[in-house]
Amino acid sequence: MHITWLGHSCIVIEGEDKVIIDPFLSGNPVASKKVDEINVDIVAVTHGHGDHLGDAIEIAKKGAALVAIHELAQYASSKGIEAIGVNIGGSVIIGKTKITMVPAFHSSGIDASNFSFSGGHPAGFVINSGKTIYHAGDTCLFSDMKLIAELYKPEIAFLPIGDRYTMGPREAAIAASWIKADVTIPIHYNTFPVIKQDANEFKKMAEEKGAKVKILNVGERIEL
Ligand code: NI
Ligand code: MN
Repeated sequence: MHITWLGHSCIVIEGEDKVIIDPFLSGNPVASKKVDEINVDIVAVTHGHGDHLGDAIEIAKKGAALVAIHELAQYASSKGIEAIGVNIGGSVIIGKTKITMVPAFHSSGIDASNFSFSGGHPAGFVINSGKTIYHAGDTCLFSDMKLIAELYKPEIAFLPIGDRYTMGPREAAIAASWIKADVTIPIHYNTFPVIKQDANEFKKMAEEKGAKVKILNVGERIEL
């Protein structure tokens, strides 16, 4: 399986199917790809904020199945997409990929035309497309991450470390130690000055607690 970090929370998984999570490319100062370069089977969106919903609708219009929480799926449907709604705790199988929606503690208003629509509850995903991946979305640290680890045994974990809008390095290091993935990759940092972080500091704290961390460069594609 190949994994590419396109900056912020955007991950491309090339497994049994090709999946993009939280495709914030247009308007992302550090994005390494443009929407026209993205061709995937599935686009999964953790919540309605612009830095996650991003270009999801445009990518879905090119033929990808859009998976999101019910309210966000309804919003996407109103934009002409046949979105696949799920909810927290539930799973859906698309092609050879199983997507389970898991909790995240955050907010989820959709910013459209200067006012916000409810985007339903924010979420994380456990995605199995050959290997099991946990993408935490935007969230604080919460102890049910231990339950996510016990239930799904993620092999690869993506955790936000930016602070301010999500957990910061100290909390994310604890999350990494609970999830115990073979590799934990920090995301949602250094996109904007307000979420500037030293990923090496996170790596040091997480590894002191027994987690294994790999820091990616934006645009880096690795085999796992
Ligand atoms: Ni957010
Ligand atoms: Mn965010």
